Amino acid sequence: MRFRNLAFALLVCAVAATVFVGYTEAQGGAGAAAQPKTQTAAKSSAAAQVDGNLAQVMRGILFPNANVIFFTQSNNPADVKPASDPSSSTDPLTGAYGGWNAVENSAIAITEAANLLTIPGRVCSNGRPVPINNPDWGKLVQGLRDAGRVAYKAAQSKNQDKVVDAADAVTTACQSCHDKYRDKPGGVANRCM
Ligand code: HEC
Repeated sequence: MRFRNLAFALLVCAVAATVFVGYTEAQGGAGAAAQPKTQTAAKSSAAAQVDGNLAQVMRGILFPNANVIFFTQSNNPADVKPASDPSSSTDPLTGAYGGWNAVENSAIAITEAANLLTIPGRVCSNGRPVPINNPDWGKLVQGLRDAGRVAYKAAQSKNQDKVVDAADAVTTACQSCHDKYRDKPGGVANRCM
């Protein structure tokens, strides 16, 4: 009987120890410290996540925002007439945050979108992974970010000549990457390699 009680007591201790270790690991204790950082990040709901392929990110974010900047190559945003109902306008230039403000916002969108081009796990429309580990990919993304920042400063200055120069920088940034990774001989199947 005594022996049985001792065995039971040991079992209780073993269960308690397992629960305790599990608890400290869940709390990021000593056990969790050994885990690779990426694994911890993947578990967090705040970590970057991927939903679109690269072409969708281009069509949804880069393309429409670049057009707002390109508009200023031949038009002064200050002259754009607001829509009759700016809050429901589908053209940023005539909307609630229209005119020069729209150019600033599009420059920020392009600059921030550079981050989306470096998230692991995204694929191109042909199923190949976005080549984020190629050294020149990082440089081309940085080129886009830099051009976006130049465009933002230019928009803030409300100086059309400056925005024309910035629009050139944006075009060059888009084109440099497309030359290397998009407009490939052999078509879509050869993109992103
Ligand atoms: C770092 C590289 C890179 C940069 C910078 C870049 N692109 Fe792209 N873009 C690509 C690649 C690669 C594709 C092909 C994606 C696919 O097929 O999934 C693409 C596709 C596109 C498409 C879709 C084409 C289609 O087949 O429908 C558009 C539109 C586009 N880009 C616009 C832009 C604009 C505008 C900019 C600049 C503001 C830009 N891109 C900057 C790499 C880039």
